[in-house]
Amino acid sequence: MGERKKVAILTGGGDCPGLNAVISSVVKTAILKYKYEVIGYKFGYKGLYLNDYVKLDLNSVSGILHKGGTILYSSNKDNLFNYSAEENGVMIKKDVSNVAVHNLQKEGVDVLVVVGGDGTLTSARDFYRKGINVIGIPKTIDNDLALTDYTFGFQTSVNVVAEALGRLHTTGESHHRVMVLEVMGRNAGWIALYGGLAASADVILIPEIPYDITKVVEKVKERDRNNKSFTIIVVAEGAKPIDGQIVVSKIIEDSEDPIRLGGIGQKLAMDLERLIPHHEIRSTNLGHIQRGGDTSPYDRILSIRYGTQAVELIKEEKYGNMVCLRGNEIGYVSLEDVIGKIKNVNVNGSVMNAARSVGISFGD
Ligand code: F6P
Repeated sequence: MGERKKVAILTGGGDCPGLNAVISSVVKTAILKYKYEVIGYKFGYKGLYLNDYVKLDLNSVSGILHKGGTILYSSNKDNLFNYSAEENGVMIKKDVSNVAVHNLQKEGVDVLVVVGGDGTLTSARDFYRKGINVIGIPKTIDNDLALTDYTFGFQTSVNVVAEALGRLHTTGESHHRVMVLEVMGRNAGWIALYGGLAASADVILIPEIPYDITKVVEKVKERDRNNKSFTIIVVAEGAKPIDGQIVVSKIIEDSEDPIRLGGIGQKLAMDLERLIPHHEIRSTNLGHIQRGGDTSPYDRILSIRYGTQAVELIKEEKYGNMVCLRGNEIGYVSLEDVIGKIKNVNVNGSVMNAARSVGISFGD
């Protein structure tokens, strides 16, 4: 059985389907297999700073496997190494990570399991450098974390995008319209590519390939000639025209990653209206619908595999690592190797080639 340990878990960054499945599998494995004690910090690193936590037992994770969101809540604002605080009526940034270290020591926590994307795991790496035993679990619908084939949450959002495209298809076909769907993904095109390919989109625009709008127009006209008087276009929020910029919807000043993308779908629709005025264009932004709701069976299983692997790494005291998926094998990689890299779509990869082979245009 080995040494009894006290494990803490937190979920940071934007929420994502599968967080509850990860929490559930960490808690169950820790308690049932190794008789560890588990607590959960609330609202990500903010709870760690405020020492705001709940004890997690089998009862607290009962019935949450399929549910989206996180029972521990989350925040994408609280970097404890660069924390926004008010001092003498002025907002300043300061390093409060020692408070977190003190709280972990005070509670007798042996290991901190951090479930998050790039920003959250960067802090996890920094806490490991400060001597805290850390294990990372890769979360994001964007699928843009390095050194893992898939992050949990991604496949669920692909399902949502594919379903939305199916719905746009029937209405677009009825009215002979060009239907534009903007999807999330930050600076990576994974959601657009997989969602669009799964739903037979005609055009997919991704950040990795700046698009030429005349190529998009060509595709619409080609479909007209083939008596297909409607066109389905998926555009990733981080896509941009060859001669233009990404479209920013807002700046969140106190967020570590302050730029929020959004609006390229609307811009594309307006540009197309000018170039092909005899077509009706409609644009939809799927937004946070891609992050909410139940977790897909694929992501539930991936989350369970990640959560159980995290506890095995705790048992083996292999700290400073992130669990990962390579092919169909669960493994782990050093957090040091993961941080600061973005995993973009390989534009010459087999999924892209398959999409091109079936006639999908990437606006190039
Ligand atoms: O990283 C996940 C994600 O949903 C991105 O796809 C999107 O750009 C961003 O988060 C939205 O952030 P927020 O929930 O803060 O608006």
